[in-house]
Amino acid sequence: MSLRPTLETRRAQPTLEGAGVKLHRAFGFQDPSELDPFLLFDDFRNERPEDFEKGFPWHPHRGIETITYVLSGTVDHADSLGNTGSLGAGDVQWMTAGRGILHQEMPHGNQRGQMHGFQLWGNLPSAQKMTAPRYQDVTAADIPEVTDDDGTTVRVITGEFWGKKGPVDGIAADPQYLDVTMPAGVKKTFHIDTYRRAFAYVFDGSAAFVDAAAPTGVLLEKEVAGQEVNIRDLSGDRTLVRFGSGDEITVQAGEQGVRFLLISGAPINEPVAWHGPIVMNTQAELQQAMRDLRNGTFIQPAH
Ligand code: CO
Repeated sequence: MSLRPTLETRRAQPTLEGAGVKLHRAFGFQDPSELDPFLLFDDFRNERPEDFEKGFPWHPHRGIETITYVLSGTVDHADSLGNTGSLGAGDVQWMTAGRGILHQEMPHGNQRGQMHGFQLWGNLPSAQKMTAPRYQDVTAADIPEVTDDDGTTVRVITGEFWGKKGPVDGIAADPQYLDVTMPAGVKKTFHIDTYRRAFAYVFDGSAAFVDAAAPTGVLLEKEVAGQEVNIRDLSGDRTLVRFGSGDEITVQAGEQGVRFLLISGAPINEPVAWHGPIVMNTQAELQQAMRDLRNGTFIQPAH
């Protein structure tokens, strides 16, 4: 067993997206190799409808997957394949854009006008960038939830965890997407396979992530003795924690407990050519995508 060090913790940054949606971006449009196979992560938490209701009108995607997870409020969506629907609290949409789709995503507040959700972008390997588009709409009831003796609860959106398998399947980067809630004071170790690249996103409460910069045994011993150790205290929320290599992480929940997403996947290790919502391997492929958009050949005709 080897503990993954926390390479970095950082706050998500206020960002304006879509037709004027205020959100917080944890990563994206910087170094795409940093969290390969993941490209971008946005946190849509908003108390004021005027800050999000303009939404994300019709726009294209190619070469990636977008994963939307709604915690409160709803997201109405429609796309060029003729799909329409609405995601509610606890629902997930895993969209494989593949060769191309056009869609819109329009958020609406709950009864108090609040909206909260996340969007993650996963890259596709070259062999699957031009695959047929695919949607997996998963309702909250279909997402398995497991609770441990210490009160830790994990919703398994994709991948396997504690004997449960998430309902999303067939994804290139073999992602594991977990929504973890830990009660105050609980300390827990999570296994994450060595080949995965991993991050946590803390959005409620606080936690300390034990750092493996010092030998693990010493670190834990000191911590038990109540001495200061090399841990990262994430008081407050909207914090990204990027892990290095190893096969487990240890989390110590703070006084209010903690809720965080724990996401990992197999790196793709390919060149990235990125223009807005289109992510390919080469500039030539990006130019082809732009031509396809202009010529009306971006999407396959509906069958
Ligand atoms: Co989109």
